[in-house]
Amino acid sequence: MKDQTERQRDRLAAQVFVCTNDRDSEYACCADVGGQETLEAIKSWLRDRNAFWSPIGVVETACLGLCSENGTAIAIQPRNEWYSEVRPDDVPALLESTFGPDATQFRHEAGNSSENGPTAGD
Ligand code: FES
Repeated sequence: MKDQTERQRDRLAAQVFVCTNDRDSEYACCADVGGQETLEAIKSWLRDRNAFWSPIGVVETACLGLCSENGTAIAIQPRNEWYSEVRPDDVPALLESTFGPDATQFRHEAGNSSENGPTAGD
């Protein structure tokens, strides 16, 4: 086992978890309501700001327990922020309000105010 905590803490200011879960069921799942499109919209927004993967990671995930017929579920960690019914068109406003227009505003610990964190290439 290798402890990578310090390395990842240096690289990542936040991670966006995007549900793309697919299931054959009577219940709604994010794959059926644009999960993949929402995931791509998030990556694209971050790439446009040179913030994709570092300092902001994006993780495609299974069910987050916020299933809806109206859009995708997202969690932003370590902020412990959770959203449901996210549509691709919602992504720019959501990420701008979360990370600032240039994707440079981060909170490293719950309860701390916003501050600049690592930037791409750091
Ligand atoms: S299937 Fe996406 S939150 Fe449940």
